[in-house]
Amino acid sequence: MANFETKKLNKGLHGEIEIPADKSISHRSLIIGSLTKGKMKIENFSSAEDCASTLKILVELGAKIEQVGSTLFVDFTSCYQAPKSILDCGNSGTTMRLMSGILSAQNFTSTLCGDESLTKRPMKRVTVPLNEMGAHIETTEGHAPLKITGGKLNPIKYESKLASAQVKSCLMLASIAQNLPLEYTEPTLSRNHTERMLEYFGGKIETKELEDKVLIKFGKMELTAHDLYIAGDISSAAFFIIMALIVPNSEITIKNVGLNETRSGIIDVLLDMGANIEILDKKLISGEEVASLKIKYTENLKATTVSGNIIPRLIDEIPTLALLMTQAEGISVIKDAGDLRNKESDRLKTVHDELTKLGAKIEEKEDGLIIYGKTPLQGGATLNTYCDHRLAMTWFIAGLITENPINIDGFEWHKTSFPEFLDKFNSLLK
Ligand code: S3P
Repeated sequence: MANFETKKLNKGLHGEIEIPADKSISHRSLIIGSLTKGKMKIENFSSAEDCASTLKILVELGAKIEQVGSTLFVDFTSCYQAPKSILDCGNSGTTMRLMSGILSAQNFTSTLCGDESLTKRPMKRVTVPLNEMGAHIETTEGHAPLKITGGKLNPIKYESKLASAQVKSCLMLASIAQNLPLEYTEPTLSRNHTERMLEYFGGKIETKELEDKVLIKFGKMELTAHDLYIAGDISSAAFFIIMALIVPNSEITIKNVGLNETRSGIIDVLLDMGANIEILDKKLISGEEVASLKIKYTENLKATTVSGNIIPRLIDEIPTLALLMTQAEGISVIKDAGDLRNKESDRLKTVHDELTKLGAKIEEKEDGLIIYGKTPLQGGATLNTYCDHRLAMTWFIAGLITENPINIDGFEWHKTSFPEFLDKFNSLLK
């Protein structure tokens, strides 16, 4: 993979961009859509490589999909048919974990595989409860490939130790695929796009805050296909929000940002740190909130502590947030984030190791990071991306403020979630 050299940006970012479609919602539009067995138009489908993996797999399982630009015309009436080959999830954990639920409910055997990074990620969190429901899944010591022999499943009451939308969605989809009820608890509410989309298709779900956990419960569900427009991805927007906050002289507007409250923790934390962010024109699109954000460079960001219930609400933004924390006055703490070690890379270790190369003062803890700011970053180093798209884009942003260029090894990985990243960036260099 080619190396990419960054360049310091003195004059700031200016103008307006529209953020591309949300990756989590794009996956779900096809995966949950398939359970309606109907026909639908999906507008603004993500161009991320991860979502292309989901699309390809559904076609192999019988969906008919015509793509015109970012619009999909989908016919799910022939889903599900036994696949002719192994189903490749690429780098996408969401594809593997959500599809494992649906495939466990089918009367055939299928195999899900993934790339080197996905093969290192833990899959027992889904295979154990699915096997408990009656599926038969073989793994290699808890890792992909997953050989799934589906069949008749039993309803499950499941208490998850993790606040994971992938685990929650997997069990929801396995249950719905066989019209079974579900009672599921998680320690704190993880992203609820699955619940919202099921409700958009006519399903009824109860979500209840209990003393120390959240209950998600439903009975039999009738779903009807509806056309969808996919909101913009706050996790992609976060790169530009943080860029504008730390690159002097910047002032930008980002349109169509999904602001679902289970995803918008990053905005709450940045406002708490004193960031100059205005939220404008809030509205609802296909059951999800969106808004425009106006962001201005903020010289005096203050350190903060991020822990507990907010962690699932900003889990994917932590690498970029850690970079911003190096530029905030005081000691910032990230804790209760141990599951970051199971993402596309071990994000506590990789963020610590690579930011340290730039001169950041940062300590790695078992479940988090301690970051001492404000520290000028030097550059002049090669940073690895470890097959991790969020690291690729974080290192790019770091390079906008380092005295010397950074060499990014594997910058192409940004295409996993955000192929338009460089075009959007270039459009703000007015
Ligand atoms: C996702 C859930 C989160 C998140 C991932 C996407 C989803 O993972 O980190 O990028 O679309 O359900 P976990 O469920 O493992 O927390």
